[in-house]
Amino acid sequence: MREKTFVYLKPNTIQRQLVGEVLRRFERRGLKIVAMKMLWLSRKQAEELYKEHRGKDFYEPLIKFVTSSPIIAMVLEGDHAVKLVRHTIGSTDPMEASGGTIRGDFAISVRKNIVHASDSLESAKREIALFFDESEIFDYQLPL
Ligand code: CMP
Repeated sequence: MREKTFVYLKPNTIQRQLVGEVLRRFERRGLKIVAMKMLWLSRKQAEELYKEHRGKDFYEPLIKFVTSSPIIAMVLEGDHAVKLVRHTIGSTDPMEASGGTIRGDFAISVRKNIVHASDSLESAKREIALFFDESEIFDYQLPL
């Protein structure tokens, strides 16, 4: 099933100049970039994105970290994109992420885990709408 999912590259990915490396892995998986922007998350945006985690131990440091420096937000499209992206990035905790996954290869801690991706089609819809207008999401063909 053709799906769209939300992904953003966390501040440390830009700080460590790993943007190209991470994007290359998504592209090589056949995922299509249909929207992308660089932005500095406001506290309000970060709180909305992570509202399900409010009250947890890691919530405040997480909000502080993701608002510390710019991020790159995108929408990726592909067959079963939600699951495919989650497989490509690996487990949330880099200690559990397999080698060959983005987090397994680059993440240094569960907070600074390189990238966020929606965990379900419902979250993807909600998260995409938080950052992108319909007019910013492009419909185009890749060569076969
Ligand atoms: P992300 O995919 O952005 O979704 C929620 C984030 O919370 C997660 O990646 C981690 O960066 C962070 N997170 C989850 N669990 C912990 C934890 N135990 N300690 C610190 N950060 C966490």
